[in-house]
Amino acid sequence: MKFNRRTHTNGELRFKDAGKTVTLNGWVNSRRDLGGLIFITLRDRYGITQIVFEPEGDKSLYEAAKKLRNEFVVSVEGVVRTRPEDMVNSAMETGEIEVIAEKLVILNEAETTPFPISDKTEASEELRLKYRYLDLRRKEMQNNLLLRHKMYQIVRKYFDSKNFVEVETPVLMKSTPEGARDYLVPSRIHKGKFYALPQSPQTYKQLLMVAGMDRYFQITKCFRDEDLRADRQPEFTQIDVEMSFVDTEDVFEIVEELMKILFKEIKDYDIELPLKRLPYNEAMEKYGSDKPDLRFGMEIVNLNEAVKNSEFRVFKDSSESGIVGGLLAKGCAGYSRSKLDGLTKFVKELGAGGLVWMKVKEGALESPVAKFLSDEEKEKILSAMNAENDDLILIVSGNKNKSLNILGALRLEMAKRMELIKPDTKPSLLWVTDFPLLEWDEETNRYYAMHHPFTSPRVEDLDLLESDPGKVKARAYDLVLNGNEIAGGSIRIHSSDVQHKMFNALGISKDEAEEKFGFLMNAFKFGAPPHGGIAFGFDRMAMLFADKSSIRDMIAFPKTTSALSLMDNSPSNVDEAQLKELHIKIAD
Ligand code: AMO
Repeated sequence: MKFNRRTHTNGELRFKDAGKTVTLNGWVNSRRDLGGLIFITLRDRYGITQIVFEPEGDKSLYEAAKKLRNEFVVSVEGVVRTRPEDMVNSAMETGEIEVIAEKLVILNEAETTPFPISDKTEASEELRLKYRYLDLRRKEMQNNLLLRHKMYQIVRKYFDSKNFVEVETPVLMKSTPEGARDYLVPSRIHKGKFYALPQSPQTYKQLLMVAGMDRYFQITKCFRDEDLRADRQPEFTQIDVEMSFVDTEDVFEIVEELMKILFKEIKDYDIELPLKRLPYNEAMEKYGSDKPDLRFGMEIVNLNEAVKNSEFRVFKDSSESGIVGGLLAKGCAGYSRSKLDGLTKFVKELGAGGLVWMKVKEGALESPVAKFLSDEEKEKILSAMNAENDDLILIVSGNKNKSLNILGALRLEMAKRMELIKPDTKPSLLWVTDFPLLEWDEETNRYYAMHHPFTSPRVEDLDLLESDPGKVKARAYDLVLNGNEIAGGSIRIHSSDVQHKMFNALGISKDEAEEKFGFLMNAFKFGAPPHGGIAFGFDRMAMLFADKSSIRDMIAFPKTTSALSLMDNSPSNVDEAQLKELHIKIAD
């Protein structure tokens, strides 16, 4: 099929081009047959141009135009004409002109698509994922990919300008524990052995520091077999960074400047530096989250003191052994019983014993528990909560960590219901610092690394690592944007002695450490520089910059929340012969 190369894209022609003979290629976006004139709009990545077929002209051309349907791929040659003033379409960038067709080549026909290719779509996400290549024809999705592209360019240019070297690390590797399950790849040559896909290039980037690369970055895929959510995919992209001879402040400086540039170039927004820093304990106690959204206030108020002598047993017990925590919902005393029942259900589903609500009406407290509280207690609660008439107080009590987490979730839920976050609300970008190094797990009765086992304890806490591991703070930090963890990192352990102590605290035996991490421990014996770094969740950051609520929208070919690719039906069965070669038998 012969067709001329395009002279212009479909987003390019303007008033000044009138009179030019042009060739355009693209997809038929829409078609209107007005009995006489046939109008089509032609679409490509760059925009949309209107084409007119006139009945008076070439008969075969006109007949061919009649056959056009949406999503046919065509090449059109014609002359650019300005539209009469009353026909100018200001919603279209090329709305001042149209092209009078002189030649048409149909390059490919198209069946009716399962959903219309339009800016806004009502098609289910399932259908969109099955026909992802059609979904990606939509402007909104193309903009998402273009934004991602812009971010790649900014990031690469930035790190290059700061003397960072981009190094690729293996995808087939030994498993590094980052908290999730590994994706495993069986070895054909080495019977019964497996590679793991990287949960992150953590160990490699540390080895690159031992190798003297000094400053490394990589935009890289990571793989984690974990429960998926809107902000989690089994394979996702990180901007991975590591630096030698640095302390926390150096990492913060590099990251903050990058964030400033990204915000400026993508959102045209000036963020103020240095960023706010919030210690983990304060984040948990005030916001019930290690990734607090500070676009609104509504801090958790500790009411332990106010209710410590209460006759209401639930409050008294919790104030002694846990927490009685309150949230103030300004002006919400009008909440109906069913709304309050809804909130009770919400906290119960998260594991709370219940929700105590108190309405402030004409200076008095109206609440199912009011009769158990003395006037003094009521006064203390009102004053601690800073509550005024028409406010609603919501109280969760019990085990401290659990209750704080529930209050954190309730705080976000109330912000949604009260519409506290407006489109023009300032973004909230902050560091969460001073994380505990280890987390105790009741089920397995052992400590786990809160970040990963290579995170350095605070120097002043080193002795505690053996005597009281739960008290040790880490030199770790997370970067939080609008309540989302967009990056996490730490200063690392660089001595094999401290690393051994860390494995000890984690209950990893010497043999197990040798088997799993011998290569890293060995490397540390040959002069490892002090080093540290961070990794950004690229998809999450792109999602937030695009004001989307799912990272699937920012990934060209994502998986569903049950880790399926609906387009190519993976994961899929493989041939018996393939399995045999890999020494694998599928158990019933
Ligand atoms: P971490 O595990 O915190 O750190 O990951 C860094 C960032 O990656 C993003 N992220 C994800 N994004 C999408 N889907 C997922 N399943 C997913 N899991 C994590 C988050 C997170 O903040 N090696 C360390 C980094 C370091 O210490 O330098 C690491 O991977 O935005």
